[in-house]
Amino acid sequence: MQIVHTIEDLRHALAGRGRPAFVPTMGNLHAGHLALVREARRHADTTVASIFVNRLQFLPHEDFDSYPRTLQDDCEQLEAQGCGIVFAPKEQDLYPQPQTYKVQPDAALADILEGQFRPGFFTGVCTVVMKLFACVFGSTGGGVAVFGKKDYQQLLVIRHMVQQFALPISIIGLETERATDGLALSSRNAYLSAEQRTQARALSQQLQWLAHQVREGAVPLAQLEAQAMAQLSAQGWQPDYLTVRQRHDLQCPADHARQAPLVALGAARLGGTRLIDNLEF
Ligand code: PAF
Repeated sequence: MQIVHTIEDLRHALAGRGRPAFVPTMGNLHAGHLALVREARRHADTTVASIFVNRLQFLPHEDFDSYPRTLQDDCEQLEAQGCGIVFAPKEQDLYPQPQTYKVQPDAALADILEGQFRPGFFTGVCTVVMKLFACVFGSTGGGVAVFGKKDYQQLLVIRHMVQQFALPISIIGLETERATDGLALSSRNAYLSAEQRTQARALSQQLQWLAHQVREGAVPLAQLEAQAMAQLSAQGWQPDYLTVRQRHDLQCPADHARQAPLVALGAARLGGTRLIDNLEF
């Protein structure tokens, strides 16, 4: 496995290897990331994983500085999965000048849910992903990129970006990896205390409850969402949202469209840790 830090070295490493499969990450890898790498390997001879904590997608009060940086351990795990190239740029390598040109995703998709509670988040994500795509695919004529469905809205935003800019990249969304109690794997789970970790299953449980109620009965959606939020709050969480949306555009479904392909999405804080999850149904 080659580990490269600059765009130039990445392009050298990719030369003559054909169209790669790419897994962008912010490092501190867990089994969910490794599943993305295994999926990527099914689609191309060369798999590239990037490790870059992207300042542009963090708000000033968020955990950019404390986000765990575990490059050596990450590289060992990636090598064990058969990853071919790790691209781990320093901030200077990816943003040698302040990144003043940015990708502004459609507000209808990007300013709701995560975008409402983390303003500018998807501009930061799209800008870095577009730049990483340029680094990885710019000299290879395209390829495949794999993202986790745990970041459901992010996956949709990226799919739309690729479509809107006609990028020669196939986006693959992979199911969320979960612990045995249902908690979605996330680098931020490491922030939870032992006690919080046992409480953390409540987020996925509330999403399951919500999905079940929506399919079941005649109670209006808004009422069910409010009840799910109240139930989670009663267990010591501070929910930002627990909501049911149409899968294809994350807009609110009409109350009579309960049999359509839907997704329950949630974001909530347990102590200082903000977790997100979702459930398609
Ligand atoms: O999902 C993530 O880890 C990040 O948002 C991504 C896609 C690597 C961009 O920084």
